[in-house]
Amino acid sequence: MSKLWGGRFAQSPEEWVDEFNASIGFDQQLVLEDLEGSVAHVTMLGECDILSAEEVHEIIGGLSVLKQKAEKNELEFSVGNEDIHLNLEHLLIQEIGQVGGKLHTGRSRNDQVATDMHLYLKNRVEEIQLLIRAVQKAITKQAEKHVETVAPGYTHLQRAQPISFAHHLLAYFWMLERDYQRFEDSMKRIDMSPLGAGALAGTTFPIDRHRSAELLGFSSIYENSMDAVSDRDFIVEFLSNASMTIMHLSRFAEEMIIWSSQEFQFIELADAFSTGSSIMPQKKNPDMAELVRGKTGRVFGHLVSLLTVLKGLPLAYNKDMQEDKEGMFDTVHTLMGSLKIFAGMIDTMAVNENRLKQAVNEDFSNATELADYLATKGVPFREAHEIVGKLVLVCIGKGIYLKDLPLDTLKEASQVIEEDIYQVLEPFQAVKRRESAGGTGFDQVKKQLEKAKEQLASASSI
Ligand code: ARG
Repeated sequence: MSKLWGGRFAQSPEEWVDEFNASIGFDQQLVLEDLEGSVAHVTMLGECDILSAEEVHEIIGGLSVLKQKAEKNELEFSVGNEDIHLNLEHLLIQEIGQVGGKLHTGRSRNDQVATDMHLYLKNRVEEIQLLIRAVQKAITKQAEKHVETVAPGYTHLQRAQPISFAHHLLAYFWMLERDYQRFEDSMKRIDMSPLGAGALAGTTFPIDRHRSAELLGFSSIYENSMDAVSDRDFIVEFLSNASMTIMHLSRFAEEMIIWSSQEFQFIELADAFSTGSSIMPQKKNPDMAELVRGKTGRVFGHLVSLLTVLKGLPLAYNKDMQEDKEGMFDTVHTLMGSLKIFAGMIDTMAVNENRLKQAVNEDFSNATELADYLATKGVPFREAHEIVGKLVLVCIGKGIYLKDLPLDTLKEASQVIEEDIYQVLEPFQAVKRRESAGGTGFDQVKKQLEKAKEQLASASSI
C-alpha cells in the first residue's frame, strides 16, 4: 500500500516493520477525539479563508460520515496506515476524494496527536471524578449507619485505641477528596490546546489557534509551539494522580480483605462482589478487593514507564512519544474499573456490629484511658504509662483484661484510682470522650460526616 507520506521513498517498509511502527492497534481509541479535532481545524481553516466554504463543507460532510461509522464500529483500519491520524485521513480521501487531502493544511500529526490526547484526558478525568464521588457517597452512606459502632483502631496492625467505625471509613473519604481535588487542579493543564503548533515551529498559513481551541472547548492555548508538541507532562500528572488514587483504594482493599477474613469477621462482602473456589466449597473470596490491590502495580508501572520514556528526549517530537498511549489508556480503564467496583463493594458490604463490639471488649485498647485517668488526677503521664504497663502485664499473666481487675488491685497500683474507673474503661466511653477536633468522638464524627455530605452536595450542584 502506498503511504500518505510516501513521496520521497523509493521503497516501502515490509509488513513486519509496519507492524512494529504502527500504533493503530491502540490509538484507535482516539477515533472520536481525532475526528473532533479535525472538524475544529477545518472549520477554522474555512473561517480564515485558507480553504473555501465548499471545501470545508465537503470535508466536514466526510468527517461526519466517518463519525457515524466509528460509532457503529464500521471503520476498517489498517496497519499499513500506521496510526489513527493517517487511517482517518486515508478513509476521508476514500470517502470524498482528493479534496480530503486538504484537511491536513497547516497541521501536523504532532500537534494533532497532542490535541487528541488532551481531548481524551479531559473527558476521562471528568468521568473519573464522578466515579470518585460515587465511592465517597458509598462511604458516607455506610458511615452514617456506623457513627456509634465502636471498633478497634490499629497502629502497626496491633490494637491501639477504640474508634468509631464511621471515623475509620471517613478517613478514606478525605483521601479521595484530595484525589478529586488533584484531578480538578490538573484540569488547568489538560484544558489547553496544542492545535496549530504544527510539526514544531508553527505554520506559514494565517491560522487562528484561539478559534480552533474555542471550537474544541479548550480554555487556553500553548504559548510555545515546540512545548505544545513535546509536552506530555499532563499525562505524567494524570498517571501520578491515578497512582495516588489507586494507592488509596489499594489500602482500603487490603483492609477489606483483612476485615472479611475469618480471623477478623468485621465485615462481610456481598456475594455479588465475591467469588468461590473451584475446589473448596466453603470459600468466599474477596477477589474484587484483591484485584484492585493487584492492579495498583500496573498503574504505578505506567507512571514510571512514561517518566522514563521522556527523560532523555530532545525537543521536539520523537517517535518514542508514541509509547505514552498504552499506559494512559490502561490506567484510565483500570482506575475507572476499580472505582466502580469499590463503590458497589462498599455500598453492599455488611458490617458485623456484634463482632466489633466483642472485639473491643477483649483487648487492651483502653489502656490509654487508664493512663489518661491517672494523668488527670495529677500523676505525671510518664509515671502513669509505667503503672498501666505493669497492670497490663499482670492481666496478661492471668488471662484477663483491665476491666476485670478488682478495685483493690488497681488501688495498689495507684491510690488515686476510684470506682469510676470501670466506666472510663468502657470502649464506648473511650470513643465518646475523644472530642478534640477531628477526633473519633461521636459528636466530632457527626460533624465530620456533615462536612463530607456538604462537600458531596455542593459538588453535585456545580
Ligand atoms: N502515532 C504517532 C504518535 O502516537 C503520531 C504522531 C506521529 N508523528 C510523526 N511525526 N511521526 O505519537
